[in-house]
Amino acid sequence: MRTISILGATGSIGTSTLDLIRRAPERWKVVALSANGNAAELAKLAREFSAEIAVVADETALPALREALAGSGIEAAGGQGALTEAAARPAEVTVAAIVGCAGLAPTMAAIARGRTVALANKESLVSAGEVMMGAVRASGATLLPIDSEHNAIFQCLAGGAIEDVRWITLTASGGPFRDWPLERLHGATPAEAVKHPNWSMGAKISVDSATMMNKGLEFIEAFHLFPVGTERLRIIVHPQSVVHSMVEYRDGSTLAQLGPSDMRVPIASALAWPARMDTPCAPLDLAAIGELTFRAPDEVRFPATRLAREAAAAGGAVPAVLNAANEIAVAAFLAGKLAFTRIAAQVEDTLGRYAPPVPISLADVIAVDAEARARTREMLEPV
Ligand SMILES: NC(=O)c1ccc[n+]([C@@H]2O[C@H](COP(=O)([O-])OP(=O)(O)OC[C@H]3O[C@@H](n4cnc5c(N)ncnc54)[C@H](OP(=O)(O)O)[C@@H]3O)[C@@H](O)[C@H]2O)c1
Repeated sequence: MRTISILGATGSIGTSTLDLIRRAPERWKVVALSANGNAAELAKLAREFSAEIAVVADETALPALREALAGSGIEAAGGQGALTEAAARPAEVTVAAIVGCAGLAPTMAAIARGRTVALANKESLVSAGEVMMGAVRASGATLLPIDSEHNAIFQCLAGGAIEDVRWITLTASGGPFRDWPLERLHGATPAEAVKHPNWSMGAKISVDSATMMNKGLEFIEAFHLFPVGTERLRIIVHPQSVVHSMVEYRDGSTLAQLGPSDMRVPIASALAWPARMDTPCAPLDLAAIGELTFRAPDEVRFPATRLAREAAAAGGAVPAVLNAANEIAVAAFLAGKLAFTRIAAQVEDTLGRYAPPVPISLADVIAVDAEARARTREMLEPV
């Protein structure tokens, strides 16, 4: 039996993880589960999985959580500090599945324990970059990627040495607007943006997928996880989302990982690593799929990947500013206050106006993130 904590338990990745645990309850003991404000759902999950502790990041949801857990013997806690403390509790595996840079401090707390962290929360690695990778090295933690592309690359890298890699290719579905002309993109609505053709995901990552900022963030994530340099990382659009990414070695061999568009596959790969476990996912039926197609990304219609590539190459605080500006711009778009094509434009504007020094600690990263958010908000709502 292994102990596990799930940060962001009520979200898309969190519930997919719990779905796998539900199917093998004899193998897992749940320590901590967290949510932001969804106390009712969190309490339900905490009861079902007999968690030790349930935490809401939003302290105002704590009374509701306490009430829902009354008599269960499960601890209830609330606020950022409590979330970070819960993430620091001993657990062999921590699934980092909070959305956005809000997941950074708890993820770092889990990393500091030196055990296994299965990372879905790409924004925290994008923002903290070398600070997070330094913490991984210092604590001896094992960082396993859950993002399907990075999980695919991780699996393909088992087939050779990193020094022998010629290219790492991240595949991108292209999102719901991949065939839309530029003129139409301007008027794209939140409802249209969250309707991903292949994957069922939370709202923020769905919008990132539509702008292709998701692939940009993944480019930066890959840059930190797989040390081959930005010049050997590339993106290709693959509308079917069957090939989850590829690694080409110097002898001309390309290894790819294929699978259904179901996040339980990469989650299971991380949970069972280095072994394998069963999943209820539909087997891959390539004859039914028929064709796998690929094309180059269009950075005129989707400039986000260019911005992220430049941010990865610049390093320092630039990726944290890019991520923070994007989080604010996406929230404004979802609230109906920003046009779709202004999301990437706003990120570029923020990057052009805020160039902080290189962060060397978690506190520095959090400060850069907060300032970049504040400046982006100001630009969006001039006083
Ligand atoms: N979904 C996917 O298929 C997928 C694939 C690859 C990578 N990822 C990455 O995985 C992460 C989670 O994505 P998701 O789609 O699962 O998101 P989601 O469905 O929106 O769930 C987000 C989770 O984080 C919690 N949360 C939200 N804001 C928070 C805050 N400020 N502080 C603490 N907790 C907070 C939510 O709690 P409440 O329920 O209370 O709001 C929920 O448990 C993201 O970084 C995303 O990029 C997702």
